[in-house]
Amino acid sequence: MCGIIGYAGKNEAAPIMLDSLRRLEYRGYDSAGLVVSRDKKLYLTKSAGYVQILADLTEEGAQMPGHVGLGHTRWATHGQPNDANAHPHISDGGTIAVVHNGIIENYRKLREFLTGKGFTFSSETDTEVAVNLIQYYYDRSHDILRAVADAARRMEGSYALGILCEDLPDTLIATKRESPLSIGAGDGENYITSDVAAIITRTRNIITLRDYEIAVLRADGVELYSGELDRLTRKAEVVDWDVAAAEKGGYPHFMLKEIMEQPESVRRSLSPRIRDGEIILDELEIPDDYLKSISKIYIAACGTADFAGVVMKYNLERIARVPTEVVFASEFRYNLPPIDETTLVICISQSGTTADTIAAMREAKKNGARVLSIVNVVGSVIAEESDWSLLTLAGPEISVASTKAYSTQLAVGYLVTLYFAKVRGTVTPDAYKTAVDALVRLPDAIEETLKLQETTQYLASRYFSSNDIYFIGRGLDYALSLEGDQKLKEISYIHSEAYAAGELKHGPIALIDAAVKTPVVAVATNKRLIDKMVSNAVEVKSRGASVLALVTDVTAETMRGVAEDLITVSDYEEAFLPSLAIIPLQLFAYYIALQRGCDIDKPRNLAKSVTVE
Ligand code: G6P
Repeated sequence: MCGIIGYAGKNEAAPIMLDSLRRLEYRGYDSAGLVVSRDKKLYLTKSAGYVQILADLTEEGAQMPGHVGLGHTRWATHGQPNDANAHPHISDGGTIAVVHNGIIENYRKLREFLTGKGFTFSSETDTEVAVNLIQYYYDRSHDILRAVADAARRMEGSYALGILCEDLPDTLIATKRESPLSIGAGDGENYITSDVAAIITRTRNIITLRDYEIAVLRADGVELYSGELDRLTRKAEVVDWDVAAAEKGGYPHFMLKEIMEQPESVRRSLSPRIRDGEIILDELEIPDDYLKSISKIYIAACGTADFAGVVMKYNLERIARVPTEVVFASEFRYNLPPIDETTLVICISQSGTTADTIAAMREAKKNGARVLSIVNVVGSVIAEESDWSLLTLAGPEISVASTKAYSTQLAVGYLVTLYFAKVRGTVTPDAYKTAVDALVRLPDAIEETLKLQETTQYLASRYFSSNDIYFIGRGLDYALSLEGDQKLKEISYIHSEAYAAGELKHGPIALIDAAVKTPVVAVATNKRLIDKMVSNAVEVKSRGASVLALVTDVTAETMRGVAEDLITVSDYEEAFLPSLAIIPLQLFAYYIALQRGCDIDKPRNLAKSVTVE
């Protein structure tokens, strides 16, 4: 999705902003641009295509001298990804420049209004409406802060805006509603960004801008105002992400690096919360009485976070005995199920800024439910607005295809499940102890599973030229199939689908084509269900499929002879086995995409964080 960077400091702005734009590339984009302010004039360069084109056009920024500027990577929403629609946009009067993330929903009405006032437009974007609206108010008040506040009041929808005014060459202004925007407070230089990963190598002191607030940045400081222009003070939070974590560190792709980081990320998410055999969730001040009163849990999330929610659902129902449903946040927000004060809504999100998940959280709260969030980004909207929040400690995840965030979501999900089970009295002391012991050993077991790298690479070489691949599983293995399928399709562009294995006979089995030996990945790690899975594998095999089975050293024997290929993880505590079994599925997708020559970290059409509906 779109990325914003803004700089106000003593150094040359353009080269610094180009560096940040390169760090934003992973989010997915189709055009990029820069504007700098110098000698009371604005200088603009923008282009469809990669940041490298912008870097070449400006000789790595050398052709754009100036100490204050804005940069943007655009993921097209309104209008084609071409030069004219790329950001920044300059107002008709030429005084104001703007970069924008989000969607201004009433832009047609505002465009009509501004056209009536004599403004002309050179792009199809809603952003040009924003910049001209600010210009309109600036022409009347000659006060840029007031103009931004007035324009913000008239805009509906979501926006994060970086604003330059040529009359104030040392000043950068920012405001936001719903779309994320953070301020980086440096030494003699200050930044705005929609994604902290873009500036983490330059400062760790981050102020998260809240809706309607306006920030004024100069080299020597940051001022914060409310939407009514009252002065505010807020201390910066220190983001303790490892700087190296936002760099590739010798790996060919962020995705592979992040797969390999999983033992450490899971350890960080689990170990501080397990003390002397007890799960201690200090951050969660949920009263026991409330926990006992919960009659229903909904998990609302998007994409991979949703699939982590499916694992959590199976565990919550089996271990904590709470009826749980997983609903895509985009569905939940507009089709609210009956909820009341005994309903807990769990929102899972890596970024904490996904538009649909934010909306689902707000709807849930408005209708009387309590919200627990599981989020990776400290200070993000979802972390801040939910009733209770638990951080996953994956560190920055750069690859669009989520891996270590998913693993930490699973890990925090296990903690929540066991904690709830203990308070609700649905787990015996012995079972609790066994489970906690298994959780303590989990990071090492994940590390061991990563040794499957070579085997998976070999299997990928056998299947990479397939046009269609299906995943089947039951229970937790079905939850894993959903994520294995998601990983494969998003980075390799192979058509793939995941099905609950029992549903095969009701439709999907028609897709098996003996002529091409359609590959079916049978996820069969669950001892209780292995006989059923073997039957399903036999069913597809006898219709001509080639079966690749993901098994454990316990279930392998039953599946041998049915599957052409086996990939074996160690058997583990049933509830936590997904944390091991997901590793070969991630590596399988990675190596298939590699063999197919795909742009693994930046898959086509996808965005890392989807901040618009
Ligand atoms: C995008 C990303 C996915 C991610 C989903 C939810 O689609 O490409 O990897 O799972 O958003 O994002 P969130 O930040 O809420 O976990």
